[in-house]
Amino acid sequence: MNYENIQVETRGRVGLITLNRPKALNALNDALMDELGAALKTFDADDGIGAIVVTGSEKAFAAGADIGMMATYTYMDVYKGEYITRNWETVRTIRKPIIAAVAGFALGGGCELAMMCDIVIAADTAKFGQPEIKLGVMPGAGGTQRLPRAVSKAKAMDMCLTARFMDAAEAERAGLVSRVVPAESMLDEALAAAATIAEFPLPAVMMVKESVNSAYETTLAEGIRFERRLFHSLFATEDQKEGMAAFIEKRKPVFKHR
Ligand code: HXC
Repeated sequence: MNYENIQVETRGRVGLITLNRPKALNALNDALMDELGAALKTFDADDGIGAIVVTGSEKAFAAGADIGMMATYTYMDVYKGEYITRNWETVRTIRKPIIAAVAGFALGGGCELAMMCDIVIAADTAKFGQPEIKLGVMPGAGGTQRLPRAVSKAKAMDMCLTARFMDAAEAERAGLVSRVVPAESMLDEALAAAATIAEFPLPAVMMVKESVNSAYETTLAEGIRFERRLFHSLFATEDQKEGMAAFIEKRKPVFKHR
């Protein structure tokens, strides 16, 4: 498929998607989100891919939903769901891990997109924010829901109500990002983390993602029960036999489902 708003490549078993509207600081329009959803689904279905990295440019991961696109939308345009939010849920449906590799601005929908990913590796230049309030709107793709879960109610209120940006160091302290690394090595670190994941058995990888995500959505008792059932089910996989046998025999495992 030919993409106009993203670049898609593979690096070994890692799928790399680069948001590519640099002049608009990767503002997320419907066409870009359509393409991102399609590329993510293609990688998810590809047995040769074990993990996905989504990145932007040096200056911006994404500066939010495209304001030019949204400016004239009516209530019914957006409420019907055909615009702005129509493809955002696709990211959530992807079952392989997605790493957001963030440099520069991750604002509004850009911050929300990063939070939809499973791991966030940030350059020391990264700036996160939910400045929608300055435009007379509010976060619309999970900002008011994922941010409090990631950084506490106090910080989420601060960011969504004052529109101030959080730098990379604060974002790491607050728990919004997994790691902060120097800008020069950010993409390499993200690709290396993805390559590491992509070598592990896919059933375990996918179940870890599913199980950690369930921590957001259920009670602790339900979540622990769900985790235990997934844990049990991994004993039905050949890769569990191979992983444990290889450890005992002091050799490298050869996993079947990667
Ligand atoms: C459309 C955008 C844009 C955006 C930047 N640009 N952000 N275009 N939508 N979200 C464009 C600018 O218009 C400009 O185009 C070019 O990118 C460079 O931006 P500048 O403003 O000149 O750069 P700079 O002075 O460095 O400021 C960077 C910035 C600022 C602080 C990131 O651009 C900014 O505040 N952007 C808007 C951020 C924002 O409000 N995001 C939330 C959007 S609402 P030209 O053609 O002039 O060069 C949202 C809702 C989510 O995300 C809902 C999801 C469902």
